[in-house]
Amino acid sequence: MTPFIETTRLSFRNFTVDDYDAVHVYASDPVVTRYTAFGPNTPEQTKGFLQFVSAEASQEDRANYSFVLIHKQTNKLIGSCGLMRSDTHGPQYSFGYVLHKDWWRQGLASEATAALVKFGFGELRAHRLWAHVFLGNTASEKLLQNLGFRYEGCTLKSFFVRDAWHDLQTFAMLRSEWEKRVT
Ligand SMILES: CC(C)(COP(=O)(O)OP(=O)(O)OC[C@H]1O[C@@H](n2cnc3c(N)ncnc32)[C@H](O)[C@@H]1OP(=O)(O)O)[C@@H](O)C(=O)NCCC(=O)NCCS
Repeated sequence: MTPFIETTRLSFRNFTVDDYDAVHVYASDPVVTRYTAFGPNTPEQTKGFLQFVSAEASQEDRANYSFVLIHKQTNKLIGSCGLMRSDTHGPQYSFGYVLHKDWWRQGLASEATAALVKFGFGELRAHRLWAHVFLGNTASEKLLQNLGFRYEGCTLKSFFVRDAWHDLQTFAMLRSEWEKRVT
């Protein structure tokens, strides 16, 4: 399935291997990846990621949906977001988002995530959506809370990346909670 998702300022599409330049510029940036589960990427890591997600996009029965975000007015690739299915019963998806830092603080990630969440509960009929946020990532915490996600707790030193263990907060929303918000 190739979903069609669009917001006022953004359009979503599948990744292709040709997105390397635009993706690598933010995926290799230590400022952007300070609180992410990946990065800062080497060129090989970005190429491997692009091969993986573009192959996934052509699968018949997709478990995961990774999208690049195109700023409609400029036609620039400014970041990405995605939903990763975490079980076969439900289903439940974790999700994430990242923007090139030139595009921060304009409400764009909130706009993209609201559309991603609508797609998750609407088209994918998710039972539950959840995101992990590294402790200290205030922007991401605020974004999720503004969209109605509930703080579920923090697991200490539970994720290892960049030679260190990180504390991970979980924010979640159940389908029933989403339905209350949209009706
Ligand atoms: C997290 C991220 C996607 C937010 O993108 P953004 O487009 O700047 O976010 P928005 O403009 O939609 O803002 C969302 C909220 O965060 C706040 N915010 C944004 N940047 C902030 C910062 N540096 N410090 C504190 N609050 C911040 C905004 O004010 C807004 O809250 P408000 O409406 O209550 O004022 C962006 O900072 C990013 O790409 N970071 C690197 C990748 C990352 O950490 N991804 C999340 C992994 S869980």
